[in-house]
Amino acid sequence: MRVGVLTIFPELFGPFLATSLVGRAVDRGLLAVEVHDLRDFTEDRHRSVDDEPYGGGGGMVMTAPPWIRAVRAMSAAAEPETRPWRVLLSPQGAPLDDAKVRELAGRRELLLLCGRYEGIDERVRLAVVDEEVSIGDYVLSGGELPAMVLIEAVSRQIPGVVGQADSVERESFRHGLLDHPHYTRPPVVEGLAVPEILLSGDHAAIARWRHEKALEATRAKRPDLLAKGQDDT
Ligand code: ADE
Repeated sequence: MRVGVLTIFPELFGPFLATSLVGRAVDRGLLAVEVHDLRDFTEDRHRSVDDEPYGGGGGMVMTAPPWIRAVRAMSAAAEPETRPWRVLLSPQGAPLDDAKVRELAGRRELLLLCGRYEGIDERVRLAVVDEEVSIGDYVLSGGELPAMVLIEAVSRQIPGVVGQADSVERESFRHGLLDHPHYTRPPVVEGLAVPEILLSGDHAAIARWRHEKALEATRAKRPDLLAKGQDDT
């Protein structure tokens, strides 16, 4: 899968793209990420990307022309079916949940637009954005962290990226439930012993226990997930 990123802070992405699961996916050629500096698409001496808002009020607004130039340059010569799917990260977007992650992972190529300041001139969204996505109902200073969240979540869906073949499938949310608890050595920690069943070797009983614990955790911590009626296990 290919991902392009447009940002005024390309340096934020370096260690993220070189580390852990995402880093390995890049090394193995399963994921290709290109980070572009929006300022390379400015045409003034100061490489400016923002201006005062029409209508007054505080803050600055990112100007449309550099974004539109950049997005067009990255979609140049591409047919509508083969050009990147253009995603603007913003608190006004559709929530990034498991279904949205899988939908985005199905795209051949994404172009992520990371806004800053008070916002981006609305005409960017109208002219060159396919979809607006939010990582939650809170406001960050820019779309860079949300873009990294999206890249990491989407890369986990690329076949071969997550080691154990079925661990993405078993994970939290796939069946509308939170994950069951996990235990490893040592057998006793702070007087708390590993549940006997996990030492029994009875795989069917362990599977039933894990499902029960997943339900329990969901009921206690996220009853809204059960209310959605998504438990298809
Ligand atoms: N930019 C600022 N806040 C954001 C959020 N919550 N999600 C996506 N992009 C953002």
